[in-house]
Amino acid sequence: MNNKTYFIGLMSGTSLDGIDVAIVDIQSVQNSKHHSIALIASQSVVLPDNIKSQLIHLSFEQNVNMQTLGETGVQLAQLFAQSINALLAAQGIDKSQIMAIGSHGLTIRHQPYGAFPFSLQITDPSLLAQLTGIDVVSDFRNMDIAVGGQGAPLVPAFHQALLGETSQGCIVLNLGGIANITVLNPGADVIGYDTGPANTLLDVWCEKHTHKAYDKNGIWASTGRVIPELLTLMLAEPYFAEVYPKSTGKELFNLDWLFNKIDEYQTISSTKLNKKLIPPEDIQRTLLELTVVSAALQIKQFTHTHTLFVCGGGVHNQCLVEQLQQQLPAHQIKATDEVGINSDALEAMAFAWLAYCRVHLISANSPSVTGAKSKVVMGSWYSAKSEKVS
Ligand SMILES: Nc1ncnc2c1ncn2[C@@H]1O[C@H](COP(=O)(O)OP(=O)(O)O)[C@@H](O)[C@H]1O
Ligand SMILES: [Mg+2]
Repeated sequence: MNNKTYFIGLMSGTSLDGIDVAIVDIQSVQNSKHHSIALIASQSVVLPDNIKSQLIHLSFEQNVNMQTLGETGVQLAQLFAQSINALLAAQGIDKSQIMAIGSHGLTIRHQPYGAFPFSLQITDPSLLAQLTGIDVVSDFRNMDIAVGGQGAPLVPAFHQALLGETSQGCIVLNLGGIANITVLNPGADVIGYDTGPANTLLDVWCEKHTHKAYDKNGIWASTGRVIPELLTLMLAEPYFAEVYPKSTGKELFNLDWLFNKIDEYQTISSTKLNKKLIPPEDIQRTLLELTVVSAALQIKQFTHTHTLFVCGGGVHNQCLVEQLQQQLPAHQIKATDEVGINSDALEAMAFAWLAYCRVHLISANSPSVTGAKSKVVMGSWYSAKSEKVS
């Protein structure tokens, strides 16, 4: 077995804010099923506007342009390769030191339910392997779906690998485009699922009204007030009451969903408010409250611990974190950075670890999280090896 210990993780989530790259040193620990996992370097690269709008088309249109589908995968692989090659050069790390890249790709459809369940992430792993000269592991989710799972979330197993040793257990809340929790309770199966929307709705509403990609530090939201009746209507969405395992995405929580809720609110509101009269910052503040309340309701169910680690971009939204603390007064809320885990790089690190697991044929799905019927090895391997023809 090759003894290279560096792996690269590449992640770009539902927020479409950028690509996160992490170089991670992963080594097995002798006489133990645990690994030592250390972040060597990481960076985020903003997604160019043209690729972002192509991804929005591919994610939401029923009739997708096939040319765009094919070309976007290639463009993404080129962008991924550029960011990896630049990070390696900046760190003085040679590609020969990297065992494999774990590339999640960009999710354009996630349909784990129904007669023909699937999850579709796009990129071009073959091209990425050739442009970096490093083997690539991709398509992580479909093997879990093939054994009856939802293919998501995959990160709780990594949280367990990182934090599972904590004697009292802990909860990890990832505030990405969608919010998801991982519940670690020593001696019990890991629990993990999406609690509902986080930045995805905050971002689209902010962009629409302030033309900024996101509400920096939650300042705009903090100028608004919660509209309780609208919040109640939003919380009535059946997803919130479903029992886990469960996962969700922008297929449900998108601008159309929000407009429907606002329409419902205006219909039942006795004052029959004109749509324009609702201050947009009040909607932003209500969306922030929706994220906080839907996550807090789930977190309160698990009483074995009051340690809550937060990660993902939402950690930087001060208003969001303050409101979360108000909803969970007994909890000690800390960014994972406080225990030495970079909260912005954590998801990318997870895909480096998933590549490690694929290379070492370790089954890395958590059936208790995804609902899979068995543990399976996830990911397809694209070798970078090539031979010159004479
Ligand atoms: N300083 C900040 N203030 C408020 N929100 C922020 C800040 N920095 C990042 N974010 C939010 O975090 C999101 C990105 O989070 P991320 O964890 O990368 O999500 P995903 O996994 O969906 O890509 C951004 O779209 C933005 O909404
Ligand atoms: Mg992101």
